[in-house]
Amino acid sequence: MTHKNTVKPIRHFLDLKDIAAPDLRHMIQTAKNWKSARRHLPKGAIDDGAILDGHALAMVFEKSSTRTRISFEMAMQQLGGKALILNSDQLQLGRGETVEDTARVLSRMVDAVMIRANHHIDVMQMAGVSGVPVINALTDRSHPCQLMADIMTYEESRGSVKGKKFAWVGDGNNVAVSLIEAAIKFEFSVILACPAELSIPKSVLNWATAQDGDVTLTTDINTAVAGADAVITDTWISMGDKDPEARHRLLAPYQVNDKIMALANDDAVFLHCLPAHRGEEVTASVIDGPQSIIWEEAENRLHAQKAIIAWCLHKI
Ligand code: CP
Repeated sequence: MTHKNTVKPIRHFLDLKDIAAPDLRHMIQTAKNWKSARRHLPKGAIDDGAILDGHALAMVFEKSSTRTRISFEMAMQQLGGKALILNSDQLQLGRGETVEDTARVLSRMVDAVMIRANHHIDVMQMAGVSGVPVINALTDRSHPCQLMADIMTYEESRGSVKGKKFAWVGDGNNVAVSLIEAAIKFEFSVILACPAELSIPKSVLNWATAQDGDVTLTTDINTAVAGADAVITDTWISMGDKDPEARHRLLAPYQVNDKIMALANDDAVFLHCLPAHRGEEVTASVIDGPQSIIWEEAENRLHAQKAIIAWCLHKI
């Protein structure tokens, strides 16, 4: 009698560009279903089936976090598994042990690794040797988990993103890069208004062009927001950014305020990954106003990541 080799490939969640569109769509749909199924449960209650019973997720943080840390920990709780929070300065990683050796050790003890890293290359190197899935929870290049929550949030509020127009305003940062990748995978258009000095990496724009994506770059905020279905921005000073005064000077013309929101479609939503700085990238009247869906967006980090972890572990 012969046995088939049933070893499944390791599913890393590193960047949206590397994951097949149907898989991403499946994760979003699963997140919506699971959120709905547990809407009457206490937040710490375990979902029916406890699909990650006996599973452990290591969460490595080289940078601060509120939403990512809490949402991943509660995701594992709700799925019936366990999360270990590991700040890098308390690991040998913070004293110079390599990411590869750290990954090899973690692979022997946990079922998946989530990492928020200063440098994208470290996450790639970790995934290169890891025997378990690695999830990118923000690097200097990208923030794919955030965009999964953003897509889910837009769709809960306004229906399918397909064919919609998203306007990104401000720094051409890691979230903006993942927005471009999401636009290709979920088939919506994106126009980004960024100062030339803080624009999107050329390699990302070249990739979007090669994918035949509807991605436009401008320096004019009014052009970007006109007729948009969603307006998105982010803090002007992200973790690790230098020269805050220069960044403030460059980004001052890119504030999302009532005048800017008035250029978007009447039913446009406002999104922000948080933390926010009212009076800088967005006025209080917008972020706390009727078009803002930022609290749903923050909550959906939890629901979207449950589906991401489950997909990584071949549970969905
Ligand atoms: N949006 C986001 O990643 O939030 P935290 O930095 O608080 O995790």
